[in-house]
Amino acid sequence: MSDAGGIKVLAICGSLRKGSYNMAALRIAIAQKPPGMTIEVADISQIPLYNEDVRQQGFPPSVETLRRQIKEADALLFACPEYNYSMSGVLKNAIDWASRPPDQPFAGKAVAISGAAAGMAGTARAQYDLRRSCVFLDMHPLNKPEIFIGQAQTKFDDSGNCGDEMARNLLRDQLIALAAWTRQIGGKK
Ligand SMILES: Cc1cc2nc3c(=O)[nH]c(=O)nc-3n(C[C@H](O)[C@H](O)[C@H](O)COP(=O)(O)O)c2cc1C
Repeated sequence: MSDAGGIKVLAICGSLRKGSYNMAALRIAIAQKPPGMTIEVADISQIPLYNEDVRQQGFPPSVETLRRQIKEADALLFACPEYNYSMSGVLKNAIDWASRPPDQPFAGKAVAISGAAAGMAGTARAQYDLRRSCVFLDMHPLNKPEIFIGQAQTKFDDSGNCGDEMARNLLRDQLIALAAWTRQIGGKK
């Protein structure tokens, strides 16, 4: 069995756009996942805007599903777009919903983060905001490799292929590192 054998990863993309560079990067990572690792992609498109009054009536079904998927995963993989120097509202909203008590499901999870953006910084600012939320929720973000795919419009074609070999290799290497990190922190169930 490889180091990644049996490790279950839930991938969450912060863009709902059909031609999303972040979803394309996620697909490229998944295509190169280490043997034995499984990766499920969460559908966060149906999650409503957070409203505490609604939560008090119970979690909406889309949130229940996400919370269950997070609980069942050994590790999480975020594809993090950058909107106005921070993570997208779609991603933050999904995290906010899933994080509410009881038994917030993020605690103890190993996490890897990548991001692709039009700007030069390749979502660096957004990723550091996401890392702050990870800390508050007792997740364990992987330090390296960091993946900041800048000027994404020059690197991805219309089919989601990425011409940047370094980015493709980093997406592969990050999953290998995530598997090792998950084992190191005892995150494999
Ligand atoms: C509301 C909004 C804010 C944005 N802010 C930034 C930004 O701060 N930095 C950046 O590099 N790109 C920014 N962009 C451009 C995104 O990087 C670009 O739209 C990218 O394609 C989004 O990711 P996606 O392809 O996965 O949907 C912004 C786009 C939108 C729609």
